[in-house]
Amino acid sequence: MTQLESALQAKVDHSIGLLKEALETYGEVTFANSLGAEDVVITDLICRHVPGIEIFSLDTGRLPEETLQLLAKIEQRYDTKVKVYYPDATQLEAYVHQNGINAFYQSVELRKGCCHVRKVEPLKRALADKKAWVTGIRREQAVTRGTIEFSEWDEGNQLQKLNPLADWSEKEVWAYIKACELPYNALHDQHYPSIGCAPCTRSIAMGEDVRAGRWWWENPELKECGLHPASSLNKPS
Ligand code: ADX
Ligand code: SF4
Repeated sequence: MTQLESALQAKVDHSIGLLKEALETYGEVTFANSLGAEDVVITDLICRHVPGIEIFSLDTGRLPEETLQLLAKIEQRYDTKVKVYYPDATQLEAYVHQNGINAFYQSVELRKGCCHVRKVEPLKRALADKKAWVTGIRREQAVTRGTIEFSEWDEGNQLQKLNPLADWSEKEVWAYIKACELPYNALHDQHYPSIGCAPCTRSIAMGEDVRAGRWWWENPELKECGLHPASSLNKPS
């Protein structure tokens, strides 16, 4: 591995320390892996330094093919299994029968309803019996994420939430990926810095915000899907 710049190496060491401490303190720790750029970094840190942390992914049924290809690549590279959770078929059928297959474009309410069935409810199952979960969110990513801490109580899900890359910049994420030659989502090379479900993600133009391609038809203040509710992220300082 290429030598990392010392400031980045310090952040890497800090993130690994947080993960190790979390495993020692909470015992049952799981990492929510969306296969985004941040998450391939965390996957690498966990698989190489803290393998006792479980890794799961929420397959919403609408993910881009490139994301699923990356999941398979990661399982192969680290000789590990990512635990994949799917939406509850009965709930999903009811939602689609009632609202239509692409109802998320019609209103924020219907969009959040789709995110609830495809992401939030499976997340609840993934977190059941766990004492802490790890996410790849960063403060810089969005107005809704500016005040996140490295470790905070997740009131909604009733367990500790670890954000080991909270203070990393996008540049640092990519410096680590390149230095360690990590596999990453092929869509990142097609101007998709942030990737979610295929119908709700598009490429961005030069100079646009990194999350501009996510739910691009909505106001930035509303752009959370329920995994990281803005109300709990924007605590008063
Ligand atoms: S989202 O809420 O807008 O979709 P984003 O794509 O920025 O989230 O990802 C932030 C973090 O949420 C990821 O680093 C990951 O920890 C978690 N996450 C998001 N989508 C998924 C997914 N499909 N499966 C597992 N974790 C996810
Ligand atoms: Fe549904 Fe779009 Fe949310 Fe995916 S991101 S769960 S397709 S509304």
